[in-house]
Amino acid sequence: MLEYNGIHYQTHPEVYEPAEDTFLFAENLQVERRDRVLEIGTGTGIIAIITSKKCRTVTATDVNPHAIDCTLKNIITNKSFNVELRKGDLFEPVQEEKFDLILFNTPYLPTGEDEKVDDELDAAWDGGANGREVIDRFLEGLEDHLNPGGKVQLVQSSLSDIDKTIEKLSEIGLDASVTAREKFFFEEVVVITGMPKS
Ligand SMILES: C[S@@+](CC[C@H](N)C(=O)[O-])C[C@H]1O[C@@H](n2cnc3c(N)ncnc32)[C@H](O)[C@@H]1O
Repeated sequence: MLEYNGIHYQTHPEVYEPAEDTFLFAENLQVERRDRVLEIGTGTGIIAIITSKKCRTVTATDVNPHAIDCTLKNIITNKSFNVELRKGDLFEPVQEEKFDLILFNTPYLPTGEDEKVDDELDAAWDGGANGREVIDRFLEGLEDHLNPGGKVQLVQSSLSDIDKTIEKLSEIGLDASVTAREKFFFEEVVVITGMPKS
């Protein structure tokens, strides 16, 4: 069992283990007590569990079935009973639903065909050839799932075109900027926050 800021969690060999990007996200969440939150790509569920302590409800999703199992165990350990879990691709598990805050630590690494790994863990970082395959699909579906006045926060890398994400968020009427950043050896990892334009 691992521990982060009072959250006790277990991992699984085919689930993304919380790392520097997870902790950067955790430290820069902009959650409000009244929020209904969606977290896409929950992994071990650590972001959903932290968020659930500060808001009304969290719906947490992942394409990886091992992530759903792992998160369920972590929800029970941390008694985070306002987290609801669903398995599926991006917004597919939340069809007609809308949220006040949508969170996603995206699979943001540019990944060549020869770099893919043949298990569920691949989905944790595989952003396709330009690193934007999942990010762009996410941004296309986002507007339909935000309540009026809703916000989005996502994590990505400088390797997958930060300006393009900010531009696309602006196109759907959000005021977007980098709200946290951390440099690593070959990239910068950022949290991008999109707020309603005032
Ligand atoms: C970088 S990991 C982040 C995990 C966790 N939120 C964290 O911060 O530690 C990305 C997660 O997104 C999931 N994922 C990737 N593509 C997805 C998609 N199209 N729909 C839903 N989840 C997806 C992966 O399985 C993985 O758990």
